Amino acid sequence: MAKELVKIFDTTLRDGEQVPGCKLNTSQKLVIAKRLDELGVDVIEAGFPVSSPGDFKSVVEISKIVKNATVCGLSRAVENDIKIAAEALQFAKYPRIHTGIGTSDSHITHKFNSSRDKIIEIGFNAVKYAKSFVKDVEFYAEDAGRTDNEFLAKVCEKMIEAGATVLNIPDTTGYCLPDEYGKKIKYLVDNVKNIEKATISCHCHNDLGLATANSIAGIVNGARQIECTINGIGERAGNTSLEEVVMIMRQHPNLNLDTNINSKLLFDTSNLVSEGMGMPVQPNKAIVGANAFAHSSGIHQDGVIKNRETYEIINPLDVGVNESAIILTARSGRAALAYKAKKIGYNLSKDELDIVYPEFLKFADINKEVSDNDIPTIIKNSI
Ligand code: KIV
Ligand code: ZN
Repeated sequence: MAKELVKIFDTTLRDGEQVPGCKLNTSQKLVIAKRLDELGVDVIEAGFPVSSPGDFKSVVEISKIVKNATVCGLSRAVENDIKIAAEALQFAKYPRIHTGIGTSDSHITHKFNSSRDKIIEIGFNAVKYAKSFVKDVEFYAEDAGRTDNEFLAKVCEKMIEAGATVLNIPDTTGYCLPDEYGKKIKYLVDNVKNIEKATISCHCHNDLGLATANSIAGIVNGARQIECTINGIGERAGNTSLEEVVMIMRQHPNLNLDTNINSKLLFDTSNLVSEGMGMPVQPNKAIVGANAFAHSSGIHQDGVIKNRETYEIINPLDVGVNESAIILTARSGRAALAYKAKKIGYNLSKDELDIVYPEFLKFADINKEVSDNDIPTIIKNSI
């Protein structure tokens, strides 16, 4: 059975770039946008055009160079924001305006001092206005994670009536549990009368470390777009990480879902974004962290040397990493030492290994890691 496609909406250049210290200039953004297009993302959220002249210019220039992806500009449900977003997107082959408003009672009361009915009216008018510029309009119900489901369904129905093509259901504060977020999406699938006219999108934040799990719960329950960033960067604890959701779908064929992403470019893209933004990737980051395919304990190394799949569920080549790494430390066993020594030209017999291994351990206890350069010295000093 053919797999259903989940669209990847990349917001590295918008939600990702909101991170303090991650600001990019237009030429840096162009390099990343080009790469995202090559990577195969379906939508690039290029910025928030009304927010600054620099962001406006970036959206204009990105619109000119992107060949395949839809280019999206964020706006509040405010006429001027929408007009400026439309202007910034004028050169895009496939333009999308992303507009919306807070729908949780907390946002309605504290941010807008408004009422539920008024919020629907503002959202409806914003979508209609955006539709006067472009065909493709996405509506975000900010703080949908904490919005009452019955009200959220009403909001969605009205926004589809106004012409929204995509309904973004953000867990803005990263509050939801996966089961709760999945049920929210299912509720919308089951209760929004005109839901077949729009795509439901997941936009999850990582405040409790659940952004990826929540996005997956969303697609399992009927959402068909995920909003995410390279390396999971984004406001506060970040957004859903693109590489994680893509590889979850690839590694779990039973989900019967896939994306258009060329996963072999993931590692390189992660480095490009990390270097451009000056935002290091934590070594234990899933998929793209420096240790994601590194093995340092003897038990694991012995298994991986015999068969990679004993301790690796992803082939590193599939994400653009050349090979798994065996790191020699004081926790490494004989098999790893013999393997690494052989790689640099020392074919140690069992007797030789018996002599070299204790020396290796002494060295490793003093030095955190044993490099390829250290091995010849250890061998010479022991035999
Ligand atoms: O997290 C959020 O709610 C957002 C919206 C602006 C889409 O980023
Ligand atoms: Zn967000």
